[in-house]
Amino acid sequence: MAFIEWSEQFSVDIASIDEQHRHLVELINKLHGAMMAKESHLVLDEIINELIAYTFVHFNTEEEFFSQFGYPEAENHMTEHRQFIEKVDSFHRDFVAKKIGVSVGILDFLTDWLKSHILNRDKAYGPFLRANMA
Ligand SMILES: [Fe+2]
Ligand SMILES: [Fe+2]
Repeated sequence: MAFIEWSEQFSVDIASIDEQHRHLVELINKLHGAMMAKESHLVLDEIINELIAYTFVHFNTEEEFFSQFGYPEAENHMTEHRQFIEKVDSFHRDFVAKKIGVSVGILDFLTDWLKSHILNRDKAYGPFLRANMA
C-alpha cells in the first residue's frame, strides 16, 4: 500500500490539475518507498530535480488560470507558491551541502503541503474556475 493513496478528497474537479497533483503524490510515495528501503540517497537528487520541474509546470498552470479568469484570491495563493519554491530551493542547497535529514525534511514538507495547500487553497479555486471554464 502506498504511503499516500490518491482519493477524491484531493480532487479539485479539473482533470488537468488533478493529474498534476497525482504526480506530486507519486513523488511523495517514491521518496517514502526509497526511505523505507534505506535508499533515499540514491533517488534524492532525482526527486529534488523532479520537484523543481514539477513546481515550474504546475504553478504556471494554476496561475495562468488565475490570470485568465481574474481569480480574486490569486495573490494569497501565489504567495504560498513562492514560499514552496523557496523551500525547495533550500532543500536543494542542503542536499548539495550534504546535510543530513534532507529526505525526512522533504517528506514532511510535502505531506504537509498536501494538507495545507492542496486540500485548502487549491480546492478553494475549484468552484470558481469550473464556473468560468463552463
Ligand atoms: Fe496545486
Ligand atoms: Fe496552488
